[in-house]
Amino acid sequence: MTNETKRKKPSLPAYFKNLGIKDYKSERGFWKHVTEVDPILAKELEPLISRQKQGSLYDVKNNSLPFSLAVESWTMSFHKAFLQWVNTQRQLRPQRILDIGCDNGLLTCWYATLFPEAEVFGIDQASNGIQRAKELSNQLDLHNLNFQKMDFSDLIEHFSENFFDLIISVRCFHEIMGPLPIPQYWSLPDYLEKNPTFGDSNFLRILHYLLTEDGTYLSCERLDNPADVGKWANVLEEANLYVQWEKSDVITYHELGIHKRSPVILTTKRNTGMTTWDGLEHLYTKGKPITLEVGSSYSGAQAEFAYHRLGEKSFNSGVFLNMKDHWYLFRFEIWETRDLLLVYSYGNMGHRHLDILPTGAYEEAQLLRDEAIAQFSHLGPITPYDSIEERPE
Ligand SMILES: C[S@@+](CC[C@H](N)C(=O)[O-])C[C@H]1O[C@@H](n2cnc3c(N)ncnc32)[C@H](O)[C@@H]1O
Repeated sequence: MTNETKRKKPSLPAYFKNLGIKDYKSERGFWKHVTEVDPILAKELEPLISRQKQGSLYDVKNNSLPFSLAVESWTMSFHKAFLQWVNTQRQLRPQRILDIGCDNGLLTCWYATLFPEAEVFGIDQASNGIQRAKELSNQLDLHNLNFQKMDFSDLIEHFSENFFDLIISVRCFHEIMGPLPIPQYWSLPDYLEKNPTFGDSNFLRILHYLLTEDGTYLSCERLDNPADVGKWANVLEEANLYVQWEKSDVITYHELGIHKRSPVILTTKRNTGMTTWDGLEHLYTKGKPITLEVGSSYSGAQAEFAYHRLGEKSFNSGVFLNMKDHWYLFRFEIWETRDLLLVYSYGNMGHRHLDILPTGAYEEAQLLRDEAIAQFSHLGPITPYDSIEERPE
């Protein structure tokens, strides 16, 4: 029997349970828990989380290890979903792992547990995060870990070229490279043509330098919509790092009861030749390939991919809704292709829904459109239009 078959697979639920990290479906449960662990720190944290006060959330959160782990309950479902996904990546057999922005080391310590033969490095610019991470690895009796306080930009001064065969970043590049602007767009391909990337690809060239030729860079960043993912893929490509779209995924979880989704992007130095547009469609339609048939109905990114796949179309009619005191604008339109009728409802902030009907089914199309409008019509004035030229902007 090899060492590998003898070794007991570590259990992720047990990992969270042993650290006392709980899954709360409401803010009430979360605040009760953190207050029980440390009432003084909980009181300091609340105005920082609710943005009523400015200050470093990390400083308060990482004041002590028990409190830091209690606060983890906020993101437990996200972290668990991400780590569960990592667990399924059987092709990964890393020898040297880098966790960027490791914070209290919760994820880093799992990588060290999952890959006991690997040498695992966690870096973070915040010293109390690194202190907590060291304490956590001692508590877990892990010996293949190395935590260092370091700014991301200084990595190349500390590690040689091709040093890591697995680099991971979770929710930290919006802090390293600056936040992504909230994208407002009616058409994803048009938006990406005008805004192909964000930030400075020199940051990502650091990853290219550190990664072995056949190494993997896994990122689970704050990429809230397909436009952000497209910009991320393009900026990675500028640094000669290529998204492996077939191996990337979208994980689902909840944050204190609110359903959420995040892309996990697997990148290597191998250029697949797949365009970002095709890659995005692959990612967002995984497990549900688009069929352009009568009766098909799509929501979210899938609706937009289906709409664009339908090719040439002519405009029939539209209704515009302007949500007062908000950035939200909506269009409810009927379009025609040679043999299909389409009801496409879409917003400038990402809302998408498409119904595919048989040609000539105008009455059904009107009904579907009226239903779609009814969901939002109380939110602002609506303006009908009969041609694209008349459409309000
Ligand atoms: C939102 S937290 C995410 C922590 C952890 N990866 C997770 O998912 O729980 C972002 C972390 O990135 C770290 N960070 C931000 N900018 C950094 C930089 N330039 N260099 C190193 N770490 C940085 C912060 O200190 C913080 O711990």
